[in-house]
Amino acid sequence: MRSARMPSRTRLDRFLAANTRYSRREVRLLLAQGRVLVNTEQATAINQVLEPFDTVVLDDVCLRQHEAVYLAMNKPLGVVSATDDPQHRTVLDVLREDPQCPLETDLLASLHIVGRLDKNTSGLLLLTNDSQWSEQLMQPDSKIPKVYEVTLQHPLDERYAPAFASGMHFSYEDITTRPAQLEILSSHVARVTLTEGRYHQIKRMFGRFRNPVVALHRCAIGSLPLPAELEPGCSQAINPALVDSGLTTS
Ligand code: URA
Repeated sequence: MRSARMPSRTRLDRFLAANTRYSRREVRLLLAQGRVLVNTEQATAINQVLEPFDTVVLDDVCLRQHEAVYLAMNKPLGVVSATDDPQHRTVLDVLREDPQCPLETDLLASLHIVGRLDKNTSGLLLLTNDSQWSEQLMQPDSKIPKVYEVTLQHPLDERYAPAFASGMHFSYEDITTRPAQLEILSSHVARVTLTEGRYHQIKRMFGRFRNPVVALHRCAIGSLPLPAELEPGCSQAINPALVDSGLTTS
């Protein structure tokens, strides 16, 4: 049995009483009789707390099974990084329309986005239903490197890399950007690595040079590159540890 909303942590005895015909008193007996399994382990403590992705089985009947889902999408241009939007096509609409999408409707509905991309940015976007994981990745000090390929309207020159490395002051938020790495790949193309995600950050940083961004594509997050075979609009399951392994602590 699955539901679209991922549950928060809850006590096992309350969960059993709410999801079976047994009263709280009878639930104690079920537990004492060893008839309840949590993730294949016999559960006996009434005050055991269920974690969001714990499975609960009573007498061989599965009462609860929430699968943790971690997806990488190649976000196409022109869709918004949202799960629901009254006006625009969202990345979740794209997922729903993908005939190869491996997820059932209820699991799709449980997803949220881990770090947005602008509507006119393409590339690697992560989706999950594991909020503990996404919160950890999104913490300001997680400093996970995010790599972008940027195409500019005007040629690049030697002034850019030091300016990105020193950080730029954004007066609207009154913050200075963290040191960012910029590598010139060709006259109009740069690879930029950020360890944070400020509003329109890359466009604003190139704006300092009056050099508009004409194309922006995210190629990697942490140690996870955008899978080469993933066409725009397609997604695939990923190993979440690959993203975590890009975490830096300094
Ligand atoms: N910086 C931007 O300006 N836009 C993005 O989508 C990501 C980084």
